[in-house]
Amino acid sequence: MGKIVVLAGSPRKNGNTDRLVEAFAKGAEKNNKVDVIPVSDHNVKPCTGCNSCFEREGNKCFQHDDMTEIYEKLKDADTLIIASPVYFYGISAQLKAVIDRFHTPMRNKFHIKKLGLILVGAAELPELFDAVITQYRLILNFFKLEDAGMVLVRGAKEKGDVRSEDLNKAFKLGKSI
Ligand SMILES: Cc1cc2nc3c(=O)[nH]c(=O)nc-3n(C[C@H](O)[C@H](O)[C@H](O)COP(=O)(O)O)c2cc1C
Repeated sequence: MGKIVVLAGSPRKNGNTDRLVEAFAKGAEKNNKVDVIPVSDHNVKPCTGCNSCFEREGNKCFQHDDMTEIYEKLKDADTLIIASPVYFYGISAQLKAVIDRFHTPMRNKFHIKKLGLILVGAAELPELFDAVITQYRLILNFFKLEDAGMVLVRGAKEKGDVRSEDLNKAFKLGKSI
């Protein structure tokens, strides 16, 4: 039984990202314990780049917020899924804040081997996901992680625009892990 943590990055409740994450989790839960973290429900302050966590006992951040809980959940995860709406060709600010807080020696205690990506945006542009995918591949390479796969959904703007074929792709990604 694996353990998957999903960082669900949309602040819009029951929107397209949430629906894709739900379908992913349904597919994944047979072989994994799946922990979905809706990042916007957590108070996570952005990293200030002070690097004091590198010196501090236990490598704790000087900012006492909900990141403590997220670190705990990541400690026994073997797969991490990043799910986000496209915001100006990037990921949501809420999700970026959580990812930047991985800049800590605490991450040496993680056992994450695989990374997966779920993205949804309103436009139909072929290049819609290029910036995020570049970042994703650089991170896979830097941390020597395996690519668990991607679900990329274009043309979904309003809540519920995500189509059943998209949900099916997310379900299949979950099932493949
Ligand atoms: C601040 C903001 C920026 C956005 N930027 C883009 C963008 O650059 N490209 C795009 O296709 N859609 C963009 N969108 C649309 C969202 O990606 C789209 O509505 C998506 O379905 C939202 O997912 P959600 O329902 O999970 O929140 C933006 C939306 C917001 C609120």
